[in-house]
Amino acid sequence: MIEVSVLTISFPLPDSLWSPMRQRLPPRLVESAKRLRRTEDRQRSLCGRLLLERALRRRGYGGNLWEEFSTDACGKPRVAGPFPFSLSHSGDYVVCAVSDRGAVGVDVERIVFRGAQEFDGIFTPEECDELRRAADPVREGYRLWTMKEAALKADGRALTVPVEAVRLSGTVAQIEDKRWAVADIPLRPGYVACLAAEPGQDSVCIWDALQ
Ligand SMILES: CC(C)(COP(=O)(O)OP(=O)(O)OC[C@H]1O[C@@H](n2cnc3c(N)ncnc32)[C@H](O)[C@@H]1OP(=O)(O)O)[C@@H](O)C(=O)NCCC(=O)NCCS
Repeated sequence: MIEVSVLTISFPLPDSLWSPMRQRLPPRLVESAKRLRRTEDRQRSLCGRLLLERALRRRGYGGNLWEEFSTDACGKPRVAGPFPFSLSHSGDYVVCAVSDRGAVGVDVERIVFRGAQEFDGIFTPEECDELRRAADPVREGYRLWTMKEAALKADGRALTVPVEAVRLSGTVAQIEDKRWAVADIPLRPGYVACLAAEPGQDSVCIWDALQ
């Protein structure tokens, strides 16, 4: 089973709201988020940590999470134990997926279309045909993008692999000979999100308020 926790809140958070949330995290993590220049980016990233902590505790994780939290050479975060996870944030959303069987990847994107060149070199000719047929090609382009990025995050190499190397066919995203099942995460208009996981798993979406 995959649990997808979704937080939607308007960033940047006012200090009255943010201060008690920040205090739930170890100073080392808060300090490391300072690499991000914008307040809202720091808050989104740290809210991802808070969502992760709650999701892992719900699954019965009893370890010292922040001692065991690390990132690999490609930037993929991990915690020793049986629960692979993935984090993503964009605009007013933070999303965390936790699995109990195999890697997962999640991606959320706010739709901010700057022109057709955004999609250059990303889609195969078949995917381009799909876009042309779509009622809302911009939204569909972003949706297919999140499918590819979610699969790349499950893979762990993320965007070090060219996006066009991910082949989409319905609800399957293929990277080399590995197939990932991809599924939309329904969000409000203006956003798209996708989950990628080993085929054949159920998922549930939990709306979290982090209170
Ligand atoms: C990960 C990546 C796809 C981010 O995409 P984005 O749309 O800007 O941001 P998202 O919010 O969707 O995802 C960010 C989250 O992805 C996760 N992440 C980072 N690297 C990852 C990886 N290689 N695999 C899976 N997840 C990764 C992190 O949790 C990060 O959030 P955090 O920093 O708050 O913990 C992009 O930064 C990337 O491809 N990074 C690769 C890093 C790289 O080049 N490493 C060098 C050697 S391999």
